Amino acid sequence: MIITKKLSKRFSNDRGVFDLDLDVEKSTIYGFVGPNGAGKTTTIKLLCGLLKPDSGKAFIDGTEVLPKNISIIKKKIGYMPDITGVYEQMSVWEFLDFYGAAFKIPPKKRKSRIEEVLEITNAKEMIDYQMTSLSRGMRQRIGLAKTLIHDPSILILDEPAGGLDPNARIEMRMTIGRLKSIGKTILLSSHILPELSSVCDRVGIIFKGKLLVQGSVREIGRQLQEKLVVEVTVDSDVMQAEKLLKRIEGVESVTKIDAKQLSFNFNGTRNQISGVLGLLVKHGVVVRWFAENEANLENVFMGLTQREAS
Ligand SMILES: Nc1ncnc2c1ncn2[C@@H]1O[C@H](COP(=O)(O)OP(=O)(O)OP(=O)(O)O)[C@@H](O)[C@H]1O
Ligand SMILES: [Mg+2]
Repeated sequence: MIITKKLSKRFSNDRGVFDLDLDVEKSTIYGFVGPNGAGKTTTIKLLCGLLKPDSGKAFIDGTEVLPKNISIIKKKIGYMPDITGVYEQMSVWEFLDFYGAAFKIPPKKRKSRIEEVLEITNAKEMIDYQMTSLSRGMRQRIGLAKTLIHDPSILILDEPAGGLDPNARIEMRMTIGRLKSIGKTILLSSHILPELSSVCDRVGIIFKGKLLVQGSVREIGRQLQEKLVVEVTVDSDVMQAEKLLKRIEGVESVTKIDAKQLSFNFNGTRNQISGVLGLLVKHGVVVRWFAENEANLENVFMGLTQREAS
């Protein structure tokens, strides 16, 4: 649904976005992760046709993002900017009605559409609130409702959870999950990493305008992790397990985490790990838990950006 080919916008040598190849499939959530200034908003503006690329191409559901196609693109995309601009003197209803009118939804349909989008964003009770009275969290929900008003198939959300408290972030995540389940394709940006790993099907990590990797969190973790890290919990003598592990080929840096738990690095293939478990059991160690430590997004991100920076 979203494809870019060597998309570039250069503000200076290291500012902008460079040769971006993005690929977002239908009805999936794509997390666009990067630190401040990495180029997330610039990319999003290029996708929505709000910035003109210096080179490269972007396609939205098969239509190239070009000035001549902009009315088609606008119908397909719901864009939520990082800061939702509001018309202070309007009520929530008037605000949504105004955007509905801008998208040429007939007045009769508008009322039911407003009810629908408030339902999806869990904001029904706010319909008569004044826009000025909304908290940051409420404003984000209404911003999302506005983004949905013309029923776009693709949602591009710039930092949808920015500035929200933990509860409001969870709420936003659940709403985004609901939108996926009704078939929407979603690209969202964030610099808050753990937030994305649970909700996204795929993630792209951008740093200094370049896409460093894209894939599922697990795939990226596996690609980047040089050594496998395994965690073991035993119900028998932990010292015995530690001694044994240290004698097994490929096992390195055995560390005791607590009275029953150990971790070690394994310098071998994933298929050989089960051999280590077999040896422990054979020597009488009672193993309760034995698992490869899945890379989390935070570690992956830190590892990547540090590697790039050095
Ligand atoms: N119109 C512009 N003119 C010049 N430089 C710009 C312009 N817009 C963005 N930049 C620069 O391009 C880089 C990428 O900015 P961008 O806003 O895309 O980052 P971001 O990843 O969205 O960051 P944040 O997490 O802070 O929102 C930054 O160095 C920024 O200063
Ligand atoms: Mg930004």
